[in-house]
Amino acid sequence: MSTEPRRLLPLLSSHRPGRSAVTCEYRCGNACAHPAPNTSDNTYFGDVAKSVVSRRGALKATAVMSATAAGFAALSGTAAAEGTVPPALAGRGRGGRPSWPVPGTDFEPVEPNTADAVVVPSGYDQEVVIRWGDPVLPGAPKFDFHNQTAEAQAKQFGYNNDFVGLIPQDPFGRRNLMVVNHEYTTESHMFPAGTYDAENPTEEQVRIGWAAHGLSVVQTVRDRREGLRVVPSRYSRRITTDTEFELRGPVAGSDHLKTSEDPEGRTVRGTLNNCAGSVTPWGTVLSGEENFNQYFANAETVTDPVRSERLQRYGISGGATTRKWERFDKRWDIAQEPNESNRFGWIVEIDPNDPHSTPVKHTALGRFKHEAGSVKITKDRRVAVYSGDDERFEYIYKFVSKGKYKPGRSAHARKHNSRLLDDGTLYVARFTGNSPEEEIDGSGELPSDGQFDGRGEWIPLASGNTSHVPGMTAEEVYVFTRLAADKVGATKMDRPEDIEPNPRNGRVYAALTNNSDRGAAGKGAADEANPRNGNRNGHVLEWEEDHGDAASTTFSWRLLLVCGDPAEADTYFGGFDKSQVSPISCPDNVAFDSYGNLWISTDGNALGSNDGLFSVPVEGRERGKVKQFLTVPIGAEACGPVVTDDVVLVAVQHPGEGGTPENPQSHWPDGGDSPARPAIVAVWKKGGGRIGR
Ligand code: FEO
Ligand code: CA
Ligand code: CA
Repeated sequence: MSTEPRRLLPLLSSHRPGRSAVTCEYRCGNACAHPAPNTSDNTYFGDVAKSVVSRRGALKATAVMSATAAGFAALSGTAAAEGTVPPALAGRGRGGRPSWPVPGTDFEPVEPNTADAVVVPSGYDQEVVIRWGDPVLPGAPKFDFHNQTAEAQAKQFGYNNDFVGLIPQDPFGRRNLMVVNHEYTTESHMFPAGTYDAENPTEEQVRIGWAAHGLSVVQTVRDRREGLRVVPSRYSRRITTDTEFELRGPVAGSDHLKTSEDPEGRTVRGTLNNCAGSVTPWGTVLSGEENFNQYFANAETVTDPVRSERLQRYGISGGATTRKWERFDKRWDIAQEPNESNRFGWIVEIDPNDPHSTPVKHTALGRFKHEAGSVKITKDRRVAVYSGDDERFEYIYKFVSKGKYKPGRSAHARKHNSRLLDDGTLYVARFTGNSPEEEIDGSGELPSDGQFDGRGEWIPLASGNTSHVPGMTAEEVYVFTRLAADKVGATKMDRPEDIEPNPRNGRVYAALTNNSDRGAAGKGAADEANPRNGNRNGHVLEWEEDHGDAASTTFSWRLLLVCGDPAEADTYFGGFDKSQVSPISCPDNVAFDSYGNLWISTDGNALGSNDGLFSVPVEGRERGKVKQFLTVPIGAEACGPVVTDDVVLVAVQHPGEGGTPENPQSHWPDGGDSPARPAIVAVWKKGGGRIGR
């Protein structure tokens, strides 16, 4: 890459910043148009910092700050002088220094644009791997936009792909099972112009929506010329809103989960709004049920104050739903099936290596708008799972199993390790900053110690059948987890999205997409972990568990990125020279390459250009040097990045959603007058070779 200063961001004014109204409606039920459901008076981090500072005075606050920095530095293998920023945390590679490419990130960055295309660096090829409607199961008909049926959709690739995971089938990574989440449907864009009436959808259209949700499993073969090819396989599978799931863990069989269809409270039909996810070390997939609230109608009929509070805390409100599913199956109607909504909002586990396995909903991991769940093995070989609750002012959680992990991906290991997720302790995070409160003024300006950073603790909510939350039973903690977290002083965050442990440096990284309400009247004030009022562009958080152990209940943290236009003063790129980075906005999914570089995909770019995928080193002199690897078509969000040594996969979700069937914004990927179709794209180096080298 050139070391010349990047030309300043060309802010594109023709495109509405952020997400389209249609995306907001169908993806999350217009969450941002409603008041954030967290109205608890749960202590804000800023209040904690204020009380610390006022009690101890500035001198002692400085000592706290130094101890914090030393704690992080000790884990980073560096020594820190008291009162200084540890060398490992200080900015590296600032302007003027000679630069050489960090392995994995040596490519020419893609400029911001609004093209109706996937744009990749020069020297790279791309190809669609699979798109909405392509065959998955044997006998699946060819996609016919004008003659869709639910029966066909249930055998075809679903809509709005999000998470993508590869599970190797050979030692060389040539043959893989590719698992994809289909987060949500956008019925207004799924049918030809004039054939879908949002107020009166046909039953077949509704059933197509049910079949287009869930997950797909296909087998892929790596091909130098074609990137990644889907091949027929006995592992091919579609999971939809009709697939049977087993409820497991501490609240399986609970009265809160019983319905007329399932009087035992142990079996659920389907999964909803599966957003991000992860491949476990034992070769299964964890997938987060996110904005499940929007599918349930008639919460307004509930008069019982306890039930009403619980529904509202999850954003389940109002009368008819956008999709009107309740007209064709009473389980979507709260007035008729009061507990069905309690059966969604979980982490689900799929075992793609066993196409006949029953997927599981893991109740021990709590119920909220799970963005994803990602595993890290503790020092004593237990399983920790990190998970963000993606809504404004929601929390970050961790589960730590009671039992110990068995390495390997055999059927025995998969079964054993999956069972570990049924019993353990569920925690929620509290973040405390180390800078004086008056230095965190909501502007995003760095405090005088040069870092947004501090200490954190994991507050236990429940262990097995024991509640740690006064006034709540363990059952209530797991089913109404948000209410439990409110009571223990968890830190309200700016939309916690994907969280992933870095396999190289052991630290954990979380994307915080944005929070337009931060600092608004009556809402949470800026704090050191969420330092910007009206946060439009989001930030990336990094933490290190004490003793480098995922079982620790304390940690040190800092912000790696405060995203946005690098020309603006309220952004921070790990201390790196901001004239040499790509602008980045609204981080969503995170992944790592084999060198330990962080890769970030974005959702809702508030800078006026298309979303994309970015790399950023997290160590050394180029820590914080964000480079854009690709952009996705107009209206689309970039999801599910997978970065292997020789291929990058990205899920292009909701391309062209800013348009309408009558006035399409996008014809990606097939061009002409074809409808836009969500799809998975593979990117690889022309002629083969390692990504970013
Ligand atoms: Fe489905 Fe939080 O993105
Ligand atoms: Ca600080
Ligand atoms: Ca997401």
